[in-house]
Amino acid sequence: KPRLYSGMQPSADSLQIGNYIGALLNWKALQQTHDAYFSIVDLHALTVAQDPVKLRENTRRTAAQYIASGIDPSVSTLYVQSHVPAHAQLAWVLNTITGFGEASRMTQFKDKSARQGSDATTVGLFAYPMLMAADILLYDTEIVPVGEDQRQHVELTRDIAARFNARFGQTFTVPEVAIVKETAKIYDLQNPTSKMSKSAESHAGVIWLLDEPAVTAKKIMRAVTDAEGGVVFDRENKPGVANLLTIYSVLASRSIQSLEDEYAGKGYGDLKKGLAEVVTGTFGPIRARVLELLDDPAELDRLLAQNADRAAGVANETLARAYDRVGLLPRR
Ligand code: TYM
Repeated sequence: KPRLYSGMQPSADSLQIGNYIGALLNWKALQQTHDAYFSIVDLHALTVAQDPVKLRENTRRTAAQYIASGIDPSVSTLYVQSHVPAHAQLAWVLNTITGFGEASRMTQFKDKSARQGSDATTVGLFAYPMLMAADILLYDTEIVPVGEDQRQHVELTRDIAARFNARFGQTFTVPEVAIVKETAKIYDLQNPTSKMSKSAESHAGVIWLLDEPAVTAKKIMRAVTDAEGGVVFDRENKPGVANLLTIYSVLASRSIQSLEDEYAGKGYGDLKKGLAEVVTGTFGPIRARVLELLDDPAELDRLLAQNADRAAGVANETLARAYDRVGLLPRR
């Protein structure tokens, strides 16, 4: 089976619907046909200030949300990044072959550092993409399924892998990025031209997996649309409606066309009501399962430890190979 790798940051107490649609739903399908590794990237989360107690809790909560969304820890390897020290170790080596200018061109770094100012921006945030490259390269990954916002990081990973191989001899598999075009970017409900994000300044347009159904429904009913009326998919001129239709179509497994037909001649209120039912219907059982899993943290921790052992087996071999290639003296 082809090897697949992806991950998510435990940077909030709930995932948002963009993580679910843009990532988890694809992961769930792909785990059947791939040898899949999914990490909870807690070391990446540290690149912006975190409350230590919350980070620990959010790491468990993220694991529970992976499982409740259908990632099967007996089929896929689902683990916490910091439990496998090879990630941080390989990241260091990759830092030493990445250009400062090259890393400076990462748009996510440019955006985040511009928002924070240079004193609040950490060296860790700058080094973030090389840690992500280490995640991917440690597993001889062939495909990396992500949302559109992560494309540039995977491209950098490819460049770093090819450079390493050219300089030190064939060591890493050069991975391919896999992006599902239709769902690669879910937008904020209040601001339908920006991506929905866990770190959005206002949460009014963010749908959280673990929100109460009434809260979710209210956010959907208040979603920004347009003055024109008419339920038609037109990304350019009606981004709000297009976003609602995308979410609806994915969660209800229906074509956009059939939704346009159903809501022809009806108002946005009807569309939103229908969508709210679908969203709360999807996340109700997931939320219940998450709470159940969190009720037994010892079992969850045991599962994560077992999966981390499996991951470390692969990662340590690749790390040893890379250490050897660059000329580090093995400890006897
Ligand atoms: P993160 O935690 O920001 O997001 C996790 C995944 O969700 C996707 N995503 C979205 N997709 C569609 N619409 C949205 N609004 C939306 N918001 C988020 C992201 O594209 C991502 O696939 N750097 C990564 C985590 C990472 C990683 C890796 C991924 C670390 N190491 C190795 C792949 C391979 C990140 O911050 O994702």
